[in-house]
Amino acid sequence: MARRDSLWGTRFGFYLAAVGSALGLGNLWRFPFVTVENGGGAFVLLYVAFVLLIGLPILIGELMLGKITRRGSVAAFRVLDRNDEVGIIGRRTFGAGVLAALSCLLVVSYYAVVSGWVLHFLMQFTFGSILSSGENVDSSLKLLKDNGLLQLALASVHILLSLVIVVKGVQEGIEKWVGNIMPIFVVLLGILVVKSLATGQAVEALRFQFYPDFTKLTLYSPLHALGHVFFSLSVGMGTMVAFGSYLKPETHIPSAGFRVATLDTVISLFAGLLIFPTILGMSLGGSGPELLFRALPRLLQGIDSGWFFGVAFFVCLYLGALGASIGLLEALVANVTEVLKVSRERAGWIVGTVTVLCASIPSLSSSGLQGVTVRGQSLFSLWDTVVVNVLLPIGVLAFCLALSRKLKASPAINEFVNDDSLVTQTLYSHWRIVVRYIAPFLITLSLAAALFAFISELAGWTHL
Ligand code: PHE
Repeated sequence: MARRDSLWGTRFGFYLAAVGSALGLGNLWRFPFVTVENGGGAFVLLYVAFVLLIGLPILIGELMLGKITRRGSVAAFRVLDRNDEVGIIGRRTFGAGVLAALSCLLVVSYYAVVSGWVLHFLMQFTFGSILSSGENVDSSLKLLKDNGLLQLALASVHILLSLVIVVKGVQEGIEKWVGNIMPIFVVLLGILVVKSLATGQAVEALRFQFYPDFTKLTLYSPLHALGHVFFSLSVGMGTMVAFGSYLKPETHIPSAGFRVATLDTVISLFAGLLIFPTILGMSLGGSGPELLFRALPRLLQGIDSGWFFGVAFFVCLYLGALGASIGLLEALVANVTEVLKVSRERAGWIVGTVTVLCASIPSLSSSGLQGVTVRGQSLFSLWDTVVVNVLLPIGVLAFCLALSRKLKASPAINEFVNDDSLVTQTLYSHWRIVVRYIAPFLITLSLAAALFAFISELAGWTHL
């Protein structure tokens, strides 16, 4: 484990990597369309509340598990099972680690497909005439949708590129480029939000995003909000466990987690304000996962230097997607290396092959596999729903149970109480109550509500 000790020499380096993993398509691509599907303001309120109440404590828990055990997720759970200094001897938590690794694989393989869409739009902006009309935007999308092999090819390029960075080494790979790009992205986003709000739909967009009309929520909404919180913060599948394992001993985890969660949430809210004015002005609400790709080029058609902003936006978005994919693939490679006892290169090959195979299903879902739908949902949407709204909440549930049963109090308390801050035992007890009771309770309730809604739909209880 000597390798881990030498990585992330600077505190800043860790933030860049953790934020690099958290920021990405979840904020800019997924948040706007999930918010539209769940009716706007009330969902956003639920989302922010869940970030603070559940997402942040879980993020802290994952970082802490990694930092204490110095392992990737599967091996970290083994340490909890076998090391009586930090954990209680037993065998049960291994399953939680395996579930985490499986979720990682399923997330990264459909994430790579959307990253491929970003690459496609980057090329369309750079070389195509996408800015000349709304039809050109739609035909660029159609080109992609009709051609599953193009999607798979772009996804494979993305997977290969991310794996090369991962196998070369986390620090060299991530720290350098994310550090330079992220502040630029935040500024770019700020400028675009101002321009978007200036298009004449500011009041409607702000109202849509922030005015909570609770009648718009459905029984699925709490689960959708929770799933998206976990997806956006990159928790529930062990990626943050892997990042925590590279942290320096003196890093104060609750503050680190708080900064990551705040930045991530602010960026998502920005993304909403960027997209909603165009959606409301052009009635694009029913676009689903295509929303960002339909709305953004249309916004850029109407502003000065749209071409420049388009290229810059898609470059930054692509790098965000790359950062997040690196987090996922790093967790997978770390786990494969530790569990199968193979070199990082070999683990990279194994992970790459399996990921490309998995990515072929969502890639082909709008062309070759178009006919395969489940209750009207394409395989892509189904994949998204199952991973984000089912596997991640169950992963977090398993994580909460494993942590509250296995992790001993003393190493956890040490992570909360530190000399340079006044954060004390109280914060630790709050965290423990959330991880033990509140998070498992709310996740179970949200899953139950969605299951009930699903069953009643199947049974045709329309009056509900
Ligand atoms: N959080 C990332 C995003 O918002 C996605 C991600 C999920 C990354 C899970 C790593 C692990 O885009």
